[in-house]
Amino acid sequence: MKKDAIIYSTLCGTTRETAERMRLASKGKADIFDIKENPSVNIDKYSRVFVGSGIYAKKFSKEIDQFITSNASKLNSKEVILFVHGLAPEAEGKKMVEEAVNNRIPSSKYKTYYLGGKLDLKHKNLFLRMFSRFIANMAKLDPKNPSNINEQRVEELIKCVSMTS
Ligand SMILES: Cc1cc2nc3c(=O)[nH]c(=O)nc-3n(C[C@H](O)[C@H](O)[C@H](O)COP(=O)(O)O)c2cc1C
Repeated sequence: MKKDAIIYSTLCGTTRETAERMRLASKGKADIFDIKENPSVNIDKYSRVFVGSGIYAKKFSKEIDQFITSNASKLNSKEVILFVHGLAPEAEGKKMVEEAVNNRIPSSKYKTYYLGGKLDLKHKNLFLRMFSRFIANMAKLDPKNPSNINEQRVEELIKCVSMTS
């Protein structure tokens, strides 16, 4: 059985939640790696690689960015699926993703699931908490649950993980 890798990074927990849902849906077929804990994960044995990040100031997290740079040639020979959380609307978000990949993987070689985003108003970091409140306000998101997660896209991603590569 060919295995999949789910490699992700999160600042506020949204991408981890999605990655965990994917792991459960894979029914043991996917290994999951938090890139902050496994910065030099070896992807040789995986045929399909799911790469997940939030968008921060229009970019991937620095760890995922570094992972893509270090593994660009390997990723070019695999099936790559990006799953990305961000608050921007889908069209803008997908464009941001393309710019963040910056041709390290040709656009014909990867698929993107842009999933919308969520803010954590209880984050332990005071700056992130205040910043999140500010953004939630600006984006006119529900102050009790500042989220525009696209559950339909998340479901499509989960279905994709559950299908054999
Ligand atoms: C510091 C910071 C910067 C952000 N910058 C952007 C941005 O440039 N574009 C965007 O669409 N969303 C932005 N967001 C929203 C996040 O992408 C969104 O909250 C996402 O769900 C975070 O994923 P995470 O919980 O896995 O860290 C930002 C959030 C934070 C906390």
